[in-house]
Amino acid sequence: MSNVTVCARFRPLSSKEKRDHGDVICIRSIDAENFVFKDEKDEDFTFCFDRVFYPGSEQVDVYEFLAQPIVRDAVNAINGTIITYGQTGAGKTYSIEGPSILGCDEQKKEGLLPRVVGELFECLKSADEMIKYTVKLSMVEIYMEKVRDLFDLSKDNLHIKEGKVQGIFLSGVTEISILDPEEALRSLSSGIANRAVGETLMNMASSRSHCVYIFTVRQESTKDRRMKTGKLILVDLAGSEKVEKTGAEGRVLEEAKTINKSLSALGNVINALTGSTPGKVNHIPYRDSKLTRILQDALVSPPLLCPHQITIIFYQKPTVFSSYRVETHELHYFVVAHQAL
Ligand SMILES: Nc1ncnc2c1ncn2[C@@H]1O[C@H](COP(=O)(O)OP(=O)(O)OP(=O)(O)O)[C@@H](O)[C@H]1O
Ligand SMILES: [Mg+2]
Repeated sequence: MSNVTVCARFRPLSSKEKRDHGDVICIRSIDAENFVFKDEKDEDFTFCFDRVFYPGSEQVDVYEFLAQPIVRDAVNAINGTIITYGQTGAGKTYSIEGPSILGCDEQKKEGLLPRVVGELFECLKSADEMIKYTVKLSMVEIYMEKVRDLFDLSKDNLHIKEGKVQGIFLSGVTEISILDPEEALRSLSSGIANRAVGETLMNMASSRSHCVYIFTVRQESTKDRRMKTGKLILVDLAGSEKVEKTGAEGRVLEEAKTINKSLSALGNVINALTGSTPGKVNHIPYRDSKLTRILQDALVSPPLLCPHQITIIFYQKPTVFSSYRVETHELHYFVVAHQAL
């Protein structure tokens, strides 16, 4: 069975979108895996994913389908990665964080992070008593092609290294030991406060960096001292954007160019993986960006070091008014990934 799951999520229309363009949306549901995308010329394109989350979907639906199994795997020493990809303002950060990490006013709006943390500690409560677990958390952002430690801002250019046993790792990254969900949420909230966020015409709080959350679950058997590790990685990518639409200039323009370049590098890696002929080793350009290098172990197909589950969620605004050519192109690209990886 493939270790790769590819889903699509559409957020509800915002009140501004409704005011400006009415209730028209560019997608029509067929079922939980297929939808029709209508372009500006009223032409229909049908797409198929492992799961489609329509505008009425709840955060819990996304969590249960794609994150819960990965959390349970991490407790059983199986690595897993969740990557959010898509246009700026399409809802990636909302899915990962919810409206706020601490003190979200409605439980149903809670994002993946608080749910992951809750489930992780629930799993550990009911785990084998002969095993001692420790959970560590690291948080970095890739900003302007530099890896910054969000728990220690003095570490603003971490090096990505590769070891025979541990695979890809961030040399010297801060790892916070977390003992309970409340402590984990406080740490996440302080890391998020350090992340680069800026206002653009497309999104009031646009992520200007790719953010990588790494939960490491170590287990040690009290019988024979054997150690095992499961990593759970969540990646909130900065959105792809058309600079003329975001009104970018100066620093914001430089950020946008760097973001688009690293997203292209991710696309090239996925293309190289999906285009490879069985039995023939293709060159996969992992080293072309920090993002693809950090995600190298997750994106290797089939995984080499140990089992690794990966989920890519493609985010799309439900409006018909943005440039459909880019959207259908990107959608096609994820459909290929869905079929081939
Ligand atoms: N499922 C949802 N339900 C309600 N509101 C949502 C949903 N998804 C996103 N939003 C709202 O849409 C806006 C943009 O979302 P968000 O910041 O998550 O986009 P993004 O994809 O992370 O964009 P960027 O790439 O610029 O960081 C926010 O105001 C957010 O609250
Ligand atoms: Mg964001």
